Amino acid sequence: MESIQILDAKKHVGETVQIGAWVANKRSSGKIAFLQLRDGTAYFQGIVVKTEVGEEVFQLAKNLNQETAVLVTGEIREDSRSKFGYEIGISGIEVVGESHEYPITPKEHGTDFLMDHRHLWLRSSKQHAIMQIRNEVIRATYEFFNNNGFIKIDPPILTGSAPEGTTDLFETNYFDQKAYLSQSGQLYMEAAAMAFGKVFSFGPTFRAEKSKTRRHLIEFWMIEPEMAFMHQEESLEVQERYVAFLVQSVLDNCDYALDVLGRDRAILEKYTKLPFPRISYDDAVELLQKNGFEDIQWGDDFGSPHETFIANSFDQPVFILNYPKAIKPFYMKPHPTRDDVVICADMIAPEGYGEIIGGSERATDYEFLLEQIRNHGLDENEYSWYLDLRKYGSVPHTGFGLGLERTVTWLSGIEHVREAIPFPRLLNRIYP
Ligand code: 4AD
Ligand code: MG
Repeated sequence: MESIQILDAKKHVGETVQIGAWVANKRSSGKIAFLQLRDGTAYFQGIVVKTEVGEEVFQLAKNLNQETAVLVTGEIREDSRSKFGYEIGISGIEVVGESHEYPITPKEHGTDFLMDHRHLWLRSSKQHAIMQIRNEVIRATYEFFNNNGFIKIDPPILTGSAPEGTTDLFETNYFDQKAYLSQSGQLYMEAAAMAFGKVFSFGPTFRAEKSKTRRHLIEFWMIEPEMAFMHQEESLEVQERYVAFLVQSVLDNCDYALDVLGRDRAILEKYTKLPFPRISYDDAVELLQKNGFEDIQWGDDFGSPHETFIANSFDQPVFILNYPKAIKPFYMKPHPTRDDVVICADMIAPEGYGEIIGGSERATDYEFLLEQIRNHGLDENEYSWYLDLRKYGSVPHTGFGLGLERTVTWLSGIEHVREAIPFPRLLNRIYP
């Protein structure tokens, strides 16, 4: 008899197979028991009929506790009434691992309780659906960049540099030196772009941000493409094509997950239309001021109510262009005709999900960068390798970083970024 994953049920209709699964839930009457099973690939129903399996197997089925691990044997059948579409008519059950008093019951639990039990919470159908979407975004990312002439380069996690400012660094000892956990792979990706043309990275990044919001993680995963011989306008086109591709891939390949999450496909469809709108930082400030945001002045960074208002003024993700130099990192290219703004863009997701991409054209001039490094209070010795990139064949180049978890949160239509990563690291939380 073949052991299968229920995801492949379609190929096995009418066959008797074996499946390793856990009992998510059950209900029974005197003659029939319905087991809600999950095997990691999907949630499905197992039906146990007393007259078919006999008293012993029927009693075993009726007494299975939540999350008991079982090997079930039976025939795969189509089941038009369930979302999943297939069920198993059980003929035999073998208990592999018992389970007693599983803490997460079908009733409602508070967030703290669920976060404390994240290692078990991951087994629930909603979390399963979110991880399916995360997996699809990762898969589609590789497809997009591989199909567009990029190669994947892995920047280091332990570094001596602080691309995104020195306030939120995780510091650690590196033998007799100091090192930081990477905030962004960007500076290394710039070196890689000078070696390989078009590159992208995908890896964990760390920010000791004292922010407790629904958009902030302490450890998150970022996709960072970097492109040589490319100016900002062309980069924006890559960014919007990439994000539209992610949305389309989720629509094409995550049917079941979208159903479980109740995510409206018609809303997501709108985000596959190109181009995405663009608004300058200047115009965005004016838009806010005209609409009653008296707190915002030219020069301020946007907070989440501001980003949400701007996003709601459009029907798609929107680019905000050219922020004030004073609130952006040292490496951004100065504007050709203004000295108060830099050549950069943030992409703001619709529906109040905030910034999903930060990117910019990079400064190419050696003297300018050296001055910037000094002005930002950075140690120039740590950056001499980075400055070398401007000494040996410096070219226009541009790149961006997409936050994986913010993107997954948005595409899933969920409330909080903590559910978009298997084991979230949050302010004051590193358990489990
Ligand atoms: O805007 P950020 O800070 O940009 C950079 O790090 C650049 N060096 C990227 C580049 O040009 N190569 O971060 C990029 C994205 C944000 O738009 C957001 O989606 C995500 O990373 N992000 C976070 N996600 C979750 N939690 C946090 N604390 C995040 N901080 C940034
Ligand atoms: Mg940013």
